[in-house]
Amino acid sequence: MAALARSVLVTGSNRGIGLELVRQLAASPRPPQHIFATCRDPESPRGKALQELAAQHPSIKLVQLVNLPSIRGAVRAVGSHLKDWGLNLLINNAGVSSHATLRSLDSREMLSAFATNVVGALVSLRQEFLPLLEKAAKGAGKEGLSCSRAAVINISTKLGSIGLCLGVPEAPMYPYRASKAAQNMVTRCMAAELQDKGILCVAIHPGWVKTDMGTEKVLGCAPLTVEHSVQGILTVLASLSQDTSGAFLDWEGNTLPW
Ligand SMILES: NC(=O)c1ccc[n+]([C@@H]2O[C@H](COP(=O)([O-])OP(=O)(O)OC[C@H]3O[C@@H](n4cnc5c(N)ncnc54)[C@H](OP(=O)(O)O)[C@@H]3O)[C@@H](O)[C@H]2O)c1
Repeated sequence: MAALARSVLVTGSNRGIGLELVRQLAASPRPPQHIFATCRDPESPRGKALQELAAQHPSIKLVQLVNLPSIRGAVRAVGSHLKDWGLNLLINNAGVSSHATLRSLDSREMLSAFATNVVGALVSLRQEFLPLLEKAAKGAGKEGLSCSRAAVINISTKLGSIGLCLGVPEAPMYPYRASKAAQNMVTRCMAAELQDKGILCVAIHPGWVKTDMGTEKVLGCAPLTVEHSVQGILTVLASLSQDTSGAFLDWEGNTLPW
């Protein structure tokens, strides 16, 4: 089986789904040559699991990514490893939930969810990562769209689906849902705009997963292990093409309504 991509960058990779994505990518039979694992503070105790993983796999490079100045530093670090190749696959996984209800929400919490779930990833892409993705798309010697050429994957959630509008009484979560719906729109727009540049864009719902976020107290017990969710996500990523760019899929490859 061919490698998913020569180079992959995963945000929010110190725990949860991001950490497992890095773990399974590094352990795959044809691992990417470069796995850039970003988080807010890779050198702190919060980055310990990631540090231990990186110590076992030279393909994993830890990169700090917090705000715009750190994004520029991150892009320089990534670019120096990639040289003329560009970045094939960017997985925007970092995210924050919020359980604010119609009664309890305030503007600070809304803005904070939007800052992390929409603005951070979009600004870093536009200002910094896009040239690396364009370089990969041009240099890959491939036609059509795929993760092995150039792709942006936004980790979304079914709770951001306006079409489904699932479980509002049990989990109103206005800031989380609204910010993820906005992230979905960004995915659709980017897919339309970047298709001609050879860059695929897809939103993926990872399932309801036993991570710190997935086991927050609202709806009961998350059914999916992080290992199972990530196996599914990586299988879906390997299958993506021109036909699925701009889609909203779950970890099993099912299409979800926006
Ligand atoms: N778990 C689920 O059931 C589920 C379901 C649907 C969608 N998702 C989505 O899956 C993605 C990963 O979720 P998870 O379950 O793995 O969550 P998690 O275990 O809570 O991990 C969240 C990750 O995002 C990072 N992060 C949070 N706020 C950040 C910020 N302001 N700037 C930079 N990084 C930040 C965290 O870094 P720190 O350690 O520094 O906080 C951590 O690495 C999210 O986008 C989430 O919305 C999860």
